[in-house]
Amino acid sequence: MSSRCSEVRILIVGSGGREHALAYRCVVEGHHVIVAPGSDGIAADARCVAVQTSEHERLVELARAERVDLVVIGPEQPLVDGLADRLRAAGVLTLGPSAAAARLEGSKADAKAFMARHGIPTAASQTVYSLADGLAALAVFSAPPVIKASGLAAGKGVTVPESFAEAEAALRDCLEGHVFGEAGATVVLEERLDGEEVSLLVLTDGTRALTFEPAQDHKRLLDGDLGPNTGGMGAYAPAPLLDSIRRERALVDIVEPTLAGLRAEGRPFVGVLFVGLMIDAGGAARVIEYNCRLGDPEAQPILYGARGEVVPQLLAASRGVLVPGHLAGRAAATVVMASSGYPRASGAAAPITGLDAAAAAEDVKIFHAGTRLRDGQWWATGGRVLGVCARGARLEEALARAYSACDQISFTGSQARRDIGVRARG
Ligand code: AMP
Ligand code: GLY
Repeated sequence: MSSRCSEVRILIVGSGGREHALAYRCVVEGHHVIVAPGSDGIAADARCVAVQTSEHERLVELARAERVDLVVIGPEQPLVDGLADRLRAAGVLTLGPSAAAARLEGSKADAKAFMARHGIPTAASQTVYSLADGLAALAVFSAPPVIKASGLAAGKGVTVPESFAEAEAALRDCLEGHVFGEAGATVVLEERLDGEEVSLLVLTDGTRALTFEPAQDHKRLLDGDLGPNTGGMGAYAPAPLLDSIRRERALVDIVEPTLAGLRAEGRPFVGVLFVGLMIDAGGAARVIEYNCRLGDPEAQPILYGARGEVVPQLLAASRGVLVPGHLAGRAAATVVMASSGYPRASGAAAPITGLDAAAAAEDVKIFHAGTRLRDGQWWATGGRVLGVCARGARLEEALARAYSACDQISFTGSQARRDIGVRARG
């Protein structure tokens, strides 16, 4: 592995489980970490400073005042809004794509047109800007298409309808009811793909790519992939679905043309490119979505399980000198514990018990997303509250540790899936 690098001062922008996992990893590797704004949970591992992700000028000032060597931007919104451009213009070394490159996530219409221009395998689609055009496009599909609000909609903008009536209702929600505001003013209708999904995350300096272990998210709320879509109820890595042969093929057929296409368009991508893939029965991969950042919860098992150091790679990518390759990891899994009412509503705050005992186990780490600490008591404040993460020699071992930790933690109304990783276990 790469030689140990001396202490790096890193500012991480964000406050969720993903940023907690990243901060923890950087601290474990011996670096000085500041998180803005962070959270009470993150504050147990790294210093948090109350600057919000939307306060770009204050983040530039913070990076300067703290003399940080590197800023890593966690969430998509500040990337789409140009935070990486702003930091680079101020001379701050930054990991995260420019606003122009982040449009791959910020505009699904942009991503579809990009893939068409560069011959990247994806589902057939049509982009519309009015209800009349949407209804006309709908009539052309032989089966109900997936309806996607083009802009950022906090993971709620995609409907996978079972009928044409449901597809029409989703179109009307976007283009007539404006339920996603500006994000739904442009809509992508997309052929529904069959198969199994996998998340391939690559660190890139714009030209070269380092793959992380492929991960599988569990988007539905309930066991057996039932119930509503969520931000993700758990994830594990490596996902055997994308074995090393398929991973290499996805690199050549999808990741490299994506990076080359972005360079050719004058918007090189420096950061973590997240490619959501659908693998069909024959093993062929097509792109379902691009994200311009680490996934959440995927980042948790990927970073907690990673063998070797991550920080030197983040630095190398930011500096344009990444050595391509693959960052292997131990088996790892995260089980999300969500609050009552999630994903539709946020339940009342509830006290959490058992956290310390659960966190004391070896090869277990609990990442916080929706918690608060008050007078020594942890509270679940809503949404995805905790990511209970564990690693092991094999996935079964990691899962047994994660579930054993989950069983020690309790708060009123908590929801967790019991079948994370079941597809990998066969
Ligand atoms: P997204 O919010 O873009 O991550 O999409 C949410 C989920 O919708 C994806 O993870 C898939 O499960 C599903 N989805 C999106 N596009 C398609 C498609 N073309 N075919 C089948 N499922 C899809
Ligand atoms: N877990 C999916 C995402 O981060 O978008």
